[in-house]
Amino acid sequence: MTAKAKLSIIGAGNVGAQAAQLAAQSGICDVVLYDIAEGMPQGKALDIQEACPLWGSSSKVTGSNSLADTAGSDIAVITAGLARKPGMSRDDLLKTNAQIVGGLAAELAKLSPHAIFIVVTNPVDAMTQLSWKKSGFPSNRVFGMGGVLDSARLRAFIAMETGVAPKDIEAQVLGGHGDQMVPVEALINVKGIPLSKLLPGEKIKSLIERTRNGGAEIVSLLKTGSAYYAPAMSVFEMVKSVLLDEKRVLPCAAYLEGQYKNSGVYAGVPVVLGRGGVERIIEAPLSAAEAEGFSKSAEAVKALCGKLGI
Ligand code: NAI
Ligand code: 2OP
Repeated sequence: MTAKAKLSIIGAGNVGAQAAQLAAQSGICDVVLYDIAEGMPQGKALDIQEACPLWGSSSKVTGSNSLADTAGSDIAVITAGLARKPGMSRDDLLKTNAQIVGGLAAELAKLSPHAIFIVVTNPVDAMTQLSWKKSGFPSNRVFGMGGVLDSARLRAFIAMETGVAPKDIEAQVLGGHGDQMVPVEALINVKGIPLSKLLPGEKIKSLIERTRNGGAEIVSLLKTGSAYYAPAMSVFEMVKSVLLDEKRVLPCAAYLEGQYKNSGVYAGVPVVLGRGGVERIIEAPLSAAEAEGFSKSAEAVKALCGKLGI
């Protein structure tokens, strides 16, 4: 009898709990939900467990305040830390979240030496680099979620504007998950048809701008936290691709060693995600302006890492 894969979600707040729900609902893995808040992960886990009969899922869902319960994880998703409040940038969270994430990554690596880490906590590219350093893992087993969310946002905005089914719209947003993210125009299309055939250039520009501000737009509406439904679904897409060895091509924060003319830094690029984690980085053709934007974005990540001394 083989056991289900073990997914640990570190931080049972908005993103963590919603990602736990999606994973449990799918039935593809057991889930451990960990948080420092006493009773909270246990309560949310039990609530999700009680929904499993209705979903027809046999996933086991456990809540815990002890990191030891994550031992032997196949994947650890790190969402612990502070989220943005109105007026805050993702980078404002740097120092506080680095203390939380750095400590957790080191401990998690000891408890689950063969795990794959998917980092979500912001600023995510720098937090991914920190998690990689603290874990001592090879870089293919540590990567960050940002591009899947940004690309989904752009696809949603295009669908809203064109009236076309969102699933028929392709888009990839690369670079860091920050104000300097790089939507790649050549990779935006509707069933292979360039978006310029459906929308005027000015409209496309405005949708790209809305995507750049997508996180802030939600923060300003919610007022007490940041987005979590689309982020959690983005995490689940990545988890599924790894656990089911789907080899999806998804934009993830991956460690660059010369790709996209950048080295020694995590930034969002299209990767092949499978049981080995980041199995390959794919180099997409960028325009000169996009390549310059990508490098600027990577420099901004490097600057944050510099502030953390990593
Ligand atoms: P949240 O505030 O709802 O949840 C964070 C949880 O972390 C809380 O339950 C808190 O108790 C827990 N926590 C804090 N310190 C901890 C520690 N030392 N150990 C364990 N748990 C700890 O926040 P939310 O909305 O879930 O966001 C989580 C993080 O993810 C934020 O940094 C946010 O900015 C980021 N985020 C990143 C996205 C991305 O695209 N990369 C998208 C959405 C959110
Ligand atoms: C977002 O883009 C807060 O990074 C998060 O919604």
